[in-house]
Amino acid sequence: MTVSAKTIDSVPLLDLRRQNAACAEELRAAFERVLASGHFIMGPEVEAFERECAALLGAKHALGISSGTDALLLAFMALGIGPGDEVVCPSYTFFATAGCVARVGAKPVFVDVKPCCFNMDPALLERAITPRTKAIVPVHLFGQVCDMDPILALAKKRKIAVVEDAAQSLSARYKGRAAGTLAEFGCYSFFPSKNLGAFGDAGLLTTNDDALAEKARILRVHGAKPKYYHQLVGANFRIDALQAALLRVKLPRLASYTEARQRNAARYEKGLAARGLVGRDGAPLESPRACEPDSIFNQYVLRVKEGRRDALLAHLKERKVGTEVYYPVPLHLQECFASLGQREGTLPHSELAAKETLAVPVFPELTAGELDYVLEAIASFFERPRS
Ligand SMILES: Cc1ncc(COP(=O)(O)O)c(C=O)c1O
Repeated sequence: MTVSAKTIDSVPLLDLRRQNAACAEELRAAFERVLASGHFIMGPEVEAFERECAALLGAKHALGISSGTDALLLAFMALGIGPGDEVVCPSYTFFATAGCVARVGAKPVFVDVKPCCFNMDPALLERAITPRTKAIVPVHLFGQVCDMDPILALAKKRKIAVVEDAAQSLSARYKGRAAGTLAEFGCYSFFPSKNLGAFGDAGLLTTNDDALAEKARILRVHGAKPKYYHQLVGANFRIDALQAALLRVKLPRLASYTEARQRNAARYEKGLAARGLVGRDGAPLESPRACEPDSIFNQYVLRVKEGRRDALLAHLKERKVGTEVYYPVPLHLQECFASLGQREGTLPHSELAAKETLAVPVFPELTAGELDYVLEAIASFFERPRS
């Protein structure tokens, strides 16, 4: 789908139709293949997809899962986490990270993020750990990997498991290794807005530990092994064969999708810097700053200073630029976690990020003209007199 520069008067945050149109023939063939096979639950498409994901990530085991949320839930279940246990996670993340901790009956303990990259601050971890802590969940937010070495070292010292929430960071790397393969479990999402987006909900769980892989496989099918003989209480955490077949069409294209996102991010960085909007003292915006070099830019999230985020949001909305606030309320301030007692003011960087951040379109098929339109729309906000 081509978009002429002349006609641009709006830019969506995401347009999945463009990506899917480019491989529509192959997607139809994959659908036809599954339709003809009559095999919709597990089976060869799921197994092939799992092999391909394991190879991509360098993981010993990869399990296709019903969603990223279920991958997290399954990881906590396989680790035997439950009532009386605590799990340390960042407050500034998508709800599922902590929601799954609560769903297994454990207590989420929220730590603050670093203001530069919005990822869990490893320096704050030690204080959050108690004798009840069973796991740490670093979230590789927006496509950027957490500083894993200190997290892994502390977890090892305190004999605590690490579950990487790599939902937004499939194929991002930390010191040469794939995000999600550095610890006990890695959890990934194929929600349609992710770098590898499914046609509905889907996810992946990785591990290098044979025993954990076996337990997760059993829990994925209601805890049964063999069928109808239940060793454990599990649930239905299976990926659909159809999703696996469709994702197999996109998987070989993932690197090119990611390169395009990185190219778009670099164009924003350059364009914003050229307009004096980032990268100098007193600049009104801060662009995403990778602590680790290889962000895959699942989102391009700007920090808007001086309390002007919501005004910029309204301005971009007027100009029909798709935006989103990821996330407006940090998890320690969510109503459902009020009883945990982490009040306003306790995690200042998470709270500030929720007030100051704004995502703009960065999807791979965004045209240069559209990106310029977004840049101009942002620049025009800062050019006009402050109201
Ligand atoms: C950080 C994070 N964790 C977990 C999830 C849950 O993934 P899903 O939407 O596939 O259930 C998401 C995705 O939305 C996410 O962004």
